[in-house]
Amino acid sequence: MTDTAASKVLDRVLVMEMVRVTEAAAIAASRLIGRGDEKAADHAAVEAMRKAFDELTIDGTVVIGEGERDEAPMLYIGEKVGGAQGTGPKIDIALDPLEGTTITAKAGPNALAVLACAEEGNLLNAPDVYMDKLAVGPGYPEGIIDLAKSPTENVAAVAKVKGVQPSDINVCVLDRPRHADLIAELRGIGCGVVLIGDGDVAGVIAVTDEDTTIDMYMGSGGAPEGVLAAAALRCVGGQFNGRLLFRNDDERARARKWGIEDREFDRIYKLEELAKGDCIFAATGVTSGSLLDGVKRLRNGTMTTDSVVMRASSGTVRWIKGEHRAAFKD
Ligand code: FBP
Repeated sequence: MTDTAASKVLDRVLVMEMVRVTEAAAIAASRLIGRGDEKAADHAAVEAMRKAFDELTIDGTVVIGEGERDEAPMLYIGEKVGGAQGTGPKIDIALDPLEGTTITAKAGPNALAVLACAEEGNLLNAPDVYMDKLAVGPGYPEGIIDLAKSPTENVAAVAKVKGVQPSDINVCVLDRPRHADLIAELRGIGCGVVLIGDGDVAGVIAVTDEDTTIDMYMGSGGAPEGVLAAAALRCVGGQFNGRLLFRNDDERARARKWGIEDREFDRIYKLEELAKGDCIFAATGVTSGSLLDGVKRLRNGTMTTDSVVMRASSGTVRWIKGEHRAAFKD
């Protein structure tokens, strides 16, 4: 690791500080769980995360956020965050204050407040388009998965190394009509298809935890969420392939605006190309799911949070249970 000011801060301070930021967003969003109002839940999380960033002595820049400046009032791409503008270490931040707005509105599983940060220039400035995603957990030879190959070929490769039949492999996929062919192909070779309604950051991370029984992740979802999930896999191990998907010229223009050249439009990005160097990934559960418990409000006025923070350069994963006095936070 380089010995820059930013890397020292990543090392010594930010790992724990980042959890405060995701905790604040999760607590704020939790008041809107099951209230049927996606926008209000998202807004609460965004405001709380924005405020929590101001407490940090960093010169931060949002590289993946709530949208472009004219679309999002807060935490937009390019927004400067942190209380040490011009003096603190320069940190790039990818964030999703509420990953799973619909989940939260409907009180479903796996909504998270999530962020990743790295030294300036180390996170792909992914445009807000879809990304085709393919992931597998740790312990497989490098290159075992390849988006250029068919789902059947990828499942066969993973099954061979795992020492099982393709029909023993479980694949997590977002439940969307656009995935009908993918789901039919996987079921056709006997795979278990674990369909999730939303929340593919948690879906991708699920491949790193054997308790989930999910071996692979496949299908398209948000490109920003792909970078966040890749940052997590950089820390805990696993492999990821992502390819941007463009539906129209407007989306291609968005990519060009963030520095992606036309010749890269079909590129298959691997982990290190999405999140380079040292990076930190932090998440706090809003609703309970495969990765984390959700925020709970107890009768004695205490709120509990469940978070995880990980760092790529050390591979350390910290699970953090927070107890917060509602009187101070509400
Ligand atoms: P939101 O938090 O913005 O609602 O995103 C939820 C999500 O399920 C992501 O996890 C996923 O990447 C994306 O939406 C998929 O998009 P779509 O709903 O258009 O298929």
